[in-house]
Amino acid sequence: MRVAADASGEPATPVALEPDHLPTLCDGRHPAGIVPTDFSHLHGAGGYLARMAHFEAASITAFAQLSSELEDLGAPLELVEQARRAAREETVHAHAVGALARARGTVPPDPRLKPPPLRTLEEVAADNAAEGCVREAFGALVGLYQSVHAADPEVRSTMRMVARDEIAHAALSFQLHHYFVTRLDASARARVEQGRDQALAALLHQVFTFEDAPWRDELGLPAADALFEMAREFKLELARA
Ligand SMILES: [Fe+2]
Ligand SMILES: [Fe+2]
Repeated sequence: MRVAADASGEPATPVALEPDHLPTLCDGRHPAGIVPTDFSHLHGAGGYLARMAHFEAASITAFAQLSSELEDLGAPLELVEQARRAAREETVHAHAVGALARARGTVPPDPRLKPPPLRTLEEVAADNAAEGCVREAFGALVGLYQSVHAADPEVRSTMRMVARDEIAHAALSFQLHHYFVTRLDASARARVEQGRDQALAALLHQVFTFEDAPWRDELGLPAADALFEMAREFKLELARA
């Protein structure tokens, strides 16, 4: 397993990951309170898709939680509705990606969750900035790449649908971010921005390569140089957002 150059400009950390442990980069928004699951029995393309489906299922809860929190915080109804719609879309993703895994003989493990109580405005803003504006948004780019490059036509068409929605979820994250910062004081705003920068640094420091995965072409996952370029462009775009 090789590791790409680090897109942040720092030397890459030599993280040796077997193909079965590669991160599922396009897998929706991870909810607060998700309980780590043992994936050691999942292998190959089916295993990768099963892990993706697991996190897509978890992201239904992430958006359900977010819609409740937005309501609780008195956010505009339009934002609440968009979060509810995203939860419905994540349900479709979980089923569609789960079907791809099952077609390869692998059943996605159900997510286990311990949802926290409703969070404060700053906590929701910080989570949205890191998880929505950075991780889920970058995942949307990877999904878009897969929708064009996957050798398997069903993976291509599923990822086309997933990527279209994930791009909309990324746009919602930025809309929410702009709304939240208008309600936070300067010090809270600085903490949220700092959290977003840390999430970006963590993402850029984890530019894994999929070259050693025999199923890379089947799923259309990017080679190291393409992933590096995506991360570099993403960083530049984020700075302009
Ligand atoms: Fe999703
Ligand atoms: Fe999503």
